[in-house]
This record gives sequence, structure tokens and C-alpha cells, in this order.
Amino acid sequence: MSVNRGVAGGAGAALTSPFNVWKIREDFPILGRKVHGKPLVYLDNAATTQKPRAVIDAVSQFYSNDCANIHRGVHWLSERSTGLYEDARVAVQRFLGAADAREIIFVRGATEGINLVAQSYGRRHVGAGDEVLISAMEHHSNIVPWQLLCEEKGARLRVAPIDDRGELIVSEFGKLLSSRTRIVAVNHVSNALGTVNPVADLIAMAHSAGAVVLVDGAQAAPHLPVNVREMDCDFYCFSGHKIYGPSGVGVLYGKAALLESMPPYQGGGDMIRSVTFEKTTFNDLPYRFEAGTPNIAGVIGLGAAIGYVSRTGLEHIAAYERDLLDYATQAVSAIPGVRVIGTAREKAGVLSFVVDGIHPHDAGTILDRQGIAIRAGHHCAQPVMERFGVPATSRASFAFYNTREEADALARGILKVKEIFA
Ligand code: ALA
Repeated sequence: MSVNRGVAGGAGAALTSPFNVWKIREDFPILGRKVHGKPLVYLDNAATTQKPRAVIDAVSQFYSNDCANIHRGVHWLSERSTGLYEDARVAVQRFLGAADAREIIFVRGATEGINLVAQSYGRRHVGAGDEVLISAMEHHSNIVPWQLLCEEKGARLRVAPIDDRGELIVSEFGKLLSSRTRIVAVNHVSNALGTVNPVADLIAMAHSAGAVVLVDGAQAAPHLPVNVREMDCDFYCFSGHKIYGPSGVGVLYGKAALLESMPPYQGGGDMIRSVTFEKTTFNDLPYRFEAGTPNIAGVIGLGAAIGYVSRTGLEHIAAYERDLLDYATQAVSAIPGVRVIGTAREKAGVLSFVVDGIHPHDAGTILDRQGIAIRAGHHCAQPVMERFGVPATSRASFAFYNTREEADALARGILKVKEIFA
């Protein structure tokens, strides 16, 4: 089978990892399609990833054979769907190295996970004069929920700066921590720059100041091995659709003791133990935070995605992608007039760049005509754009099914962009 070989044959691909990218590509049906008559070169993986057959089949199988609501029915089908849903929770628990499946809350995505912590833990523990500390490289989803909380409570949002490479200035981060800091919220990997943050160090520093830490892992979980206990974060969240699973589903991990102490985020069915008009008592973890019928098929599809990446091995994925990102960075930055935005020493998945005199949207449109899908814009990280003095960037973002040939196609595509604008 060769449909998914994409832009080139691949026999000459210099792979450093033990897995076979060409075999992996065969698991992703969409990679065999053409766009504008050209083989698809999909380099918009930070926005969303493509889905392997295992995920597509798990969702289809659920709707074809196993569809019923969970936790409610006494009938066989409901018991079966409940079992599949809870199996996915255990798969996520193992994937994150969490101590207990009760610490895994299914949410709509990383954004909802952050809002849950801000509205539940934050509203209880942050008061007037307190501080929430974030970094200058956060996605809007890890800025706005904290702004809303701080406005409501009369608290202050502090922002740790980044340097010209796009690395967090750890000494400045340390100076901003104080006895007033209640919550620290940082991403593990920046969606706009690709920077990998030294989260374990930041967490240890924040804990010494008495703050709890939420790590936004949306751009990390698909690319790096994550172990929440080794990292010792208090909360960690990621989105299903960025880790080869369905959209509309994600995960919030929280330490059980913290989750136990938090009030519900949303009210509704399944999150209660008993309801009268006078008083409601709430269910145990994790159900207390899963009001209403959840995205059952999405959770089951996410379980299949976790199974798929775990079988491939996150260490292998990380090593392969690191090699690919270095290769692509070299190829793209060698083009005259191209400036890479985000040159941190530790990076994952993301190559943001600007081409002299050409708006990123124009570059993106011309690349699209060549079958190359990238994202152009501010990437929901406007403060990062401001920090680097650009209105937007072009962003190529990689997954473990991308190849060196596709990186070459990107470089050729950029040359074509320059030619057209010359
Ligand atoms: N947060 C996603 C991105 O970076 C949508 O593209």
C-alpha cells in the first residue's frame, strides 16, 4: 500500500527512531488524499491532528454496536458503554502516570479544564490582593480564565517574561512568586513558539511559595512522555483532538485531595448523590465534575488514541519529532529573508516563521495551493506576537506521521512564495 506516502517515495528518509513512519502513515486514511490536485502535506498539527483508523473505528463501533448512555441504565448495553467509557479513564490514568482513575476528569478540551480549575478551585481560594502567575507565552485559554477570575475577586494577574529565544526567564518567574501567589498556570509546550518549559522546576519553585500549579499540556501530551506524579503538578490538562483523538473531549487531571476540596463546576445529572429542593449532595470523584451526559463516543475514541500513541511509544515519538523539527528548522531558516520566531533550546512540534515583506496569510494561501496546510495568524497567543513585534506568523507544526520529504516540500513551497512576491 502506498497511498499515504505523500510527497515522495521515502526510501531515502533518514530516520533515527526505531519506528517506521511509512507504516504509521498507512494508519491515517486522510494522509493519502490530495488537495488542489497535490498530495496533502499536513503541517497544522498544533491546531488539530489527524486520526488513525483505530480511533475512527472505535467511534464508529460505538455508534454501530455499543451506543447507550452511561452510569444510568440497568440494561446490558448501558453497562457495556459504561465499561468502555471507564476503561478509557483508566487508559488516561496510566498514560499520565496518575495515582488513581478518580483523578481523571473528562471535559470538552484543555480550555474547559482550565476554566474548571479557575471557576472551582480559583473562586474558592483566590481573594482580593492575591495573585495568579502565568507566563508571557500562554495561549489565550490560559490567560482569559485567570483574567476573569482576578477581575471578579480583585486579585492581580502577574506575567513572567520570556527572552528573545522564546524561553521563560526562570529567575524573573522566581521573583514574581510570593506568599500572595495562589495559583501558577503555565503551558508545558508553547503552541506559538514550540518552547518546552522546565515545568518540574517551575512547579517546585511554586510549591515552595505555597501556590498550586496548573500545567496546560495541550501541546505537550501528543509529543512528550508526561508523568504527572514525577512532575508533581496539581492539575494537568490536554485536548483529545490534538492527540489523534476526537474533538470535543479532553482531560483534566487533578490531585485527588485538591479535587475533593473543590466545589462543583457545573450542576446537572450524574454529578449528584441526592437532590431535594432544599439541598443537593454531590457525587464522588470524578463524577462530581462530569455533569450531564458526556461525550461518550469522544471519550472512547480518546481511549483508542491513547492506546495508539502508547503502543508507538512517546519516547520514540519524541525522538523522531525532535529530529524532524531540527531538519525542518535548518531547511526553512536557510532560506534568505526567513526569520524563525521561537528558537528555544528545548522545542517540540512547532516551527513559526515570518518571511520578509510577505504577510503570513499570503504565505499560507500560496502554500495551500501546493497542498501544504500550515496555520497563519496569531495562534490565539496575541501577547507572544506583541513580544516578538510581529502581527502574525506562519506556523508549521509536526506530528510523528510527518516526514523529511514533507519538510523539504515546505521549504520548496516557501521559495515559491518568495518567487511569486518577488
Ligand atoms: N490552539 C490551537 C492552535 O494552536 C488551535 O492552533
